[in-house]
Amino acid sequence: MAADLTVHLAGLALRNPILSASGTFGHGLEMRRIVSPSVVGGLVSKTVTRLPRPGNPMPRIAETEAGFLNSIGLENRGIRAYMDKTLAEVADADTLIITNIGGHSAAEFAELAEQLDARAEVDAIEVNLSCPNVDGGRLPFSTDPRVAEDVMRRVRAVTTKPLFAKLSPNVTRIEDIAVAVEAGGADAITAVNTVLGVGIDWRTRKPRLNTIVGGYSGTGIKPIALRCALACVSAVDIPVIGCGGITTASDVLEFIVAGCAAVQVGTASFAEPGRIAALVLELEALLDSAGIAAVRELVGTLDVTPRTPLRPAGEY
Ligand SMILES: Cc1cc2nc3c(=O)[nH]c(=O)nc-3n(C[C@H](O)[C@H](O)[C@H](O)COP(=O)(O)O)c2cc1C
Repeated sequence: MAADLTVHLAGLALRNPILSASGTFGHGLEMRRIVSPSVVGGLVSKTVTRLPRPGNPMPRIAETEAGFLNSIGLENRGIRAYMDKTLAEVADADTLIITNIGGHSAAEFAELAEQLDARAEVDAIEVNLSCPNVDGGRLPFSTDPRVAEDVMRRVRAVTTKPLFAKLSPNVTRIEDIAVAVEAGGADAITAVNTVLGVGIDWRTRKPRLNTIVGGYSGTGIKPIALRCALACVSAVDIPVIGCGGITTASDVLEFIVAGCAAVQVGTASFAEPGRIAALVLELEALLDSAGIAAVRELVGTLDVTPRTPLRPAGEY
């Protein structure tokens, strides 16, 4: 019998643990000719902001040996167009719709969440905490536990929808941010957004991105994302959604064993737009071949017993 892929998180029932990652799969149903929405666990929108944003000037994507750098700059048509056009299109999508929001202040996040709260098409809201905080020296909300908690509290106050807090790996102790967003009312954590990176073309002496610094994603960041996900799982009681470099069914199960309730797939969809659908089939086949009846059985089964006894502190 085919393995049971269903999972539950933050009060949502997912047909499988595989979601698209924000900004990598359109806003809603743009990809439906390649991937039927009914095969994935859910679709996460590109970040929606209060006003339309043209994004950053080109070049804003650069390939690396293992993934790529981007500085798209949250290009989107703004909340009004999203509510009027995109949500109308996804009205009868046969999957969960998670709207990812971005703001420059806690008040702006709350304003967006309040508008989305009124829309039945939205199953959950993902708060992109990697946006720069205009009231805080343009540091991302995701880098300060108090600021991250405040954003979640303000958003929590205006919506009853399940709330995902999307964290950045570009911090020293992601577990502190995880604890803060849980205290602020997050129902789940998405770990993680892109890793800060730079690409240089030494022949032209030019940075590969117009913004110089961008976000690194894809297979190269998987170990970083796994560490972050594991740190979050260990720190909080709310479910964690793993994200970063996931391309194969084995990758999915690594995050599941680390304790993630679900995963998001981003960059892999650029190399192969149908990857996310193939991944669902591969996951089922992999579990079947391993004799595992349900993916849920593997969540958090990581055996952290040291293989060789560790030396007592100070004995080196
Ligand atoms: C081109 C591109 C655009 C992205 N846009 C967004 C975005 O709008 N909002 C967001 O929260 N994350 C955005 N991300 C981050 C992804 O959702 C994901 O967190 C990250 O890429 C790591 O996953 P991956 O290695 O599977 O791509 C973007 C990533 C890429 C590659």
